[in-house]
Amino acid sequence: MRIERSEILRRIEQLREEINQHNYLYHVLDQPMISDADYDALMHELKEIEGKYPETITPDSPTQRIGAPPSEKFAGVPHSVPMLSLDDAFSQEEVLEFDQRGKRFLQIDEELEYTVEPKMDGLAVELVYENGSFVLGSTRGDGYTGEDVTTNLRTIRSIPLRLISRYLPPPTRLEVRGEVFINKNAFERLNKRRMEEGEPPFANPRNAAAGSLRQLDPNITADRPLNIFCYGIGVVEGYSFGTQWEALSSLGKWGLRVNPMVEKLKGIHGAIRYHQRTNRKREELDYEIDGIVVKVNEIELQKRLGAKAKSPRWALAYKFEAAQAITRIVEIQLSVGRTGTVTPVALMKPVKVGGVVVSRATLHNEDEIRRKDVRIGDWIIVRRAGDVIPEVVRPLPERRSGEEQVFVMPQTCPVCDSRLRRKSGEAAWRCPNPECFPRLVKQLTHFAGKGAMDIDGLGPKVAEQLISAGLVRSIADLHSIKLSDLLSLDRFAEKSARNLLSAIKASKDTTLARFFYALGLRHVGDVTAQLLADHFGSIKILVDASEEELKGVEGIGPEVASSIRSWFGDNHNIELVRRMLDAGTRFTDSHETMALPLKDKTFVFTGGLSSLTREQAKNIVRDLGGQIASTVGRKTDYVVVGKGSGSKLQKAVELGISTLSEEEFLAFLSKRHSGVSRNPDILPRVIEKLPNELLTPELSD
Ligand code: IVH
Repeated sequence: MRIERSEILRRIEQLREEINQHNYLYHVLDQPMISDADYDALMHELKEIEGKYPETITPDSPTQRIGAPPSEKFAGVPHSVPMLSLDDAFSQEEVLEFDQRGKRFLQIDEELEYTVEPKMDGLAVELVYENGSFVLGSTRGDGYTGEDVTTNLRTIRSIPLRLISRYLPPPTRLEVRGEVFINKNAFERLNKRRMEEGEPPFANPRNAAAGSLRQLDPNITADRPLNIFCYGIGVVEGYSFGTQWEALSSLGKWGLRVNPMVEKLKGIHGAIRYHQRTNRKREELDYEIDGIVVKVNEIELQKRLGAKAKSPRWALAYKFEAAQAITRIVEIQLSVGRTGTVTPVALMKPVKVGGVVVSRATLHNEDEIRRKDVRIGDWIIVRRAGDVIPEVVRPLPERRSGEEQVFVMPQTCPVCDSRLRRKSGEAAWRCPNPECFPRLVKQLTHFAGKGAMDIDGLGPKVAEQLISAGLVRSIADLHSIKLSDLLSLDRFAEKSARNLLSAIKASKDTTLARFFYALGLRHVGDVTAQLLADHFGSIKILVDASEEELKGVEGIGPEVASSIRSWFGDNHNIELVRRMLDAGTRFTDSHETMALPLKDKTFVFTGGLSSLTREQAKNIVRDLGGQIASTVGRKTDYVVVGKGSGSKLQKAVELGISTLSEEEFLAFLSKRHSGVSRNPDILPRVIEKLPNELLTPELSD
């Protein structure tokens, strides 16, 4: 008997619907309605029909979760909306401050509405659905680009391959963010099995989840008990949400797994109570959480609040108390940081905190020591949270013997003896000496670091040697080091010395972002450096940028802007940058290199000009990327000849170099400067300097 094709297709659709529904009931809602055997029977039937009619198989069929071949490596996936991280808070005060800041920013008095949910301890992923089908899944990566782990994510049963459309039609494109994790009991079983099979157990569920998702062979991933909770959205096309709450409930309707503990509440105090409640429930939960996430509910307000470089202003991770231990302070030392900040550090009897032995903990600053009344010799509570430096929480005064000593902040730097300074409104004392040894060592090591100038072989040890030997007194000195200098140092053989020199030389070809980051300004991390590079596109423009201009850059807040402005306001720093540029530091991503029309052209001026001063003319040439020389030589490209010129004109003629009269020079510029129109930041500055008659309609617009 011949079965009608349409009938087969109908049966296939019916089976898929039914299986998807049971998948959802079992893996998402945790409320199975049929036995495993009945479920298997449905799957079996579907597989059989698809086996006979392979052309009917679609990637979102429930039979297609596993079976993809292993890949060589993961492809990169750019995130259309960056996957930011969250600011942490550990105390009520910090949470209240977050709420205050938000209201201040929005200039509103009434209570904000928040959603609160557990902060899962897993790893973030993004799932992309097109017309309801799961088409792409990626890890967070660096927040901007993740790894394509689609085939691995497809094996996770709580991730629907096709969205449910019964209650709400799915959008044409839906980017969903969530956390992949492993349940505690599944983790225990997994580790038990691994040990039976002679494999090393995973340290914790988070590591197990991360390791499982980043498998090149999806069959291994399929064998791991991964799970997901979806908590947010990226780009959504063909649908729009008014609130986070609405987004989450829609995700639920489409069959995505959303944590049932999510709540919506008005005012920050509710969030604080939720934190306390959740902390009490923490042990009972079948998954690991390390705090709660508080999010402003209204999407419109989220947009208005926007984001800083790495984290949004509308969300906060309110963490649970971190691991703590009790030990004793032996001594309080001062540590001079990269930017000169002098931080008191407690040296303690070594103690294990959250599985790690620690013997140093930060005391932050003088005010903190006084506020907490921490004394030398005190028994203290020390705490560690994740990768954060251990800190002294509080002393235990009841254990005092009377021999403890109150710490007195020295007036001078413990290393270089310079008088310490403290700006009004700031808690930190600073050593003002840019050549202070530990400061310079840290600065140089930071400068040479991987994310910065990436100078191989320039770690803390070598930095100390270079500085001690007097070869380096500022990072700009790096470029003057000679082979013989290095050979005179301990542990430098010809080969290592040459390697270091060539690494230093190679580092001159860099990007603006790396260079800004390498300079080591306070508050300027890699992400902020990239924002600045993208926005200004030129070191010269950044150096001159006003605090207002800096604040105008998306992701740059007032504190960062002021730090940058004050750094470039210091002549010592300007000199340092100038020396780096003179030494040949070049930026592949600079607008100057990319778009400036007079790049690599050398000009010589001779004689007087009439429509602009010689200084103005030179500045225009420089702004357009050209160089100025004072004498005519073979490397001169153009000689601009004004009134009363003499020997330079003669030399130019002898060498066959192009000469331009003032009119020709201006006409030449008007042709060339249109090249800058690609760069909106340079343009207004060049226009300012150009005489009116030079402005083409394009530029004067
Ligand atoms: S929302 C822009 N909600 O925490 C806000 N994140 O520190 C994006 N995480 O990378 C995050 N549970 O991996 C959000 N309920 C939750 C979360 C959560 C865990 C993780 C996520 C993110 C990290 C941010």
